[in-house]
Amino acid sequence: MPFLPTPLANISSLGEQEIEKEKRVFVARNLKMGNIEVIGFDLDHTLAIYNLQTFDELCYSIAKQKLVTEKGFPKAILELSYNPNFLIRGLIVDTQTGNILKANQYGYVSEAFHGQKRLKRIVRKQTYSNVTVSFAEKRFESVDTLFALPEISLYAQIVDYFEETAKKTNLDYAKLYKDIRETVDLSHKDGSIKEQVIQNLDKYFIFDPKLALTLEKFRKAGKKLFILTNSEWFYTDAVMNHLLQNKKEEFTHWTEYFNLVFCYSKKPKFFTHGTSLEKVEHKNEKIKPNKIFKGGNAEELEKLIKQNGDKILYFGDHTYGDIMRSKRDLGWRTAMIIYELEHEVSVSRKIETKQREMLEVREQNNKLIEEATSLNQKINHLSSIKENDYRKMEEEDLIEIDKRIGEHLNEFQLKEQEVTQTLVQIRKLEAEIESVYNLNWGLLFKCGNFNSRFGDQVKDFACIYTSRVSNLLAYENGKYFRSPMELMPHEI
Ligand code: IMP
Ligand code: MG
Repeated sequence: MPFLPTPLANISSLGEQEIEKEKRVFVARNLKMGNIEVIGFDLDHTLAIYNLQTFDELCYSIAKQKLVTEKGFPKAILELSYNPNFLIRGLIVDTQTGNILKANQYGYVSEAFHGQKRLKRIVRKQTYSNVTVSFAEKRFESVDTLFALPEISLYAQIVDYFEETAKKTNLDYAKLYKDIRETVDLSHKDGSIKEQVIQNLDKYFIFDPKLALTLEKFRKAGKKLFILTNSEWFYTDAVMNHLLQNKKEEFTHWTEYFNLVFCYSKKPKFFTHGTSLEKVEHKNEKIKPNKIFKGGNAEELEKLIKQNGDKILYFGDHTYGDIMRSKRDLGWRTAMIIYELEHEVSVSRKIETKQREMLEVREQNNKLIEEATSLNQKINHLSSIKENDYRKMEEEDLIEIDKRIGEHLNEFQLKEQEVTQTLVQIRKLEAEIESVYNLNWGLLFKCGNFNSRFGDQVKDFACIYTSRVSNLLAYENGKYFRSPMELMPHEI
């Protein structure tokens, strides 16, 4: 059944103001939902919202155990405990130095920690003033999925453990990173994490009652739906069964919400060449035939779903694995799920007053700088009159000029003191504002006045972004998501 947008579908802001800002859909590139025929979903951290407190703690402790039993790390590391607030997404690990970095959109390093300690500004500048963070260099590893947070926390703690407790010198930071990476990789692959999650789904996932309603709404609007996940079928089945426990009675099985399910897909490779496509064997008679696959590639998916390119909208949480490739290589429209948005937006609302104060102080600071510059120009002007015209001038005139230079100098000095005061105020406000988001790293999307590397990638690759899939329920089916007009500096 083709979907016919209602005449109201083109009114972009319909009802937007009534939706809590935390739950809104933000638009980087115009997207007409009426033009979308197929909607795909990643599973982990997209359809499935993990309880980060319990899940990250589980991943952390399994990795710690395995480092001791399988990589011969000292038992003392078992005493370490997980600090869920140490990191944010979008950071970078410098595996050459054991540092963790935050970089802006141009790759400039704006914050750095060694282990769990902040690097002094001067050390940071010395280390990174000539370095631009680029992932072409093997040295840098990106923390771009929520799955990476526990392992990078562990990395920082183990760097500290070896250097401070075990007093080890010449630590091989790259080898340490590799050991931890391999261990966490194994914990995902050998079932150690998944076995425990499946036994206690309530503990590890946040149940969202609106998810089933949202999927149903998409189906009623005539969209075909699919899942494309790197998770195995047994895990996808267990998790989705749990998440859609309030499914409609007429649906005998959760898979009926979806036209196709692609598991174990090996994204991002799936988007370029992929692996061979196989049907998943199962004994569940409630599942319709020819529905569940593993492996494959995007071309095969497009053939099976009978749509391609910009008729497909794909929801994912991973900038590189889900969003960048599907958009760049296939021309799919993309929706990024950013779990942290709810917190970031709600905190922003709370600190609006501080941000207004910041704008006022910045304006005052600009004005003072202009006044100081103008006084400086007057001083230079008077001084050059003296130098150029002293032959034509009486001694009193020269003394008079000195007097005026002196007055301007006094005034200039006072202005500079005021400039300093406003700069101190700005620095204090900046720190207050940033620390409300995360004490160590500040805002997820920003680095001072610039976008963070993460923020920039979201803007470049996600057509829309929001904190969870079910936020779409509040929007009408044919919604025309319009991006705000981007202004050139002279237009502001
Ligand atoms: P998706 O986000 O639904 O595509 O799937 C994520 C899958 O990747 C989950 O099954 C995770 O357990 C798995 N995963 C996450 N991190 C790693 C890793 O480092 N190595 C192997 N698998 C991972
Ligand atoms: Mg995911």
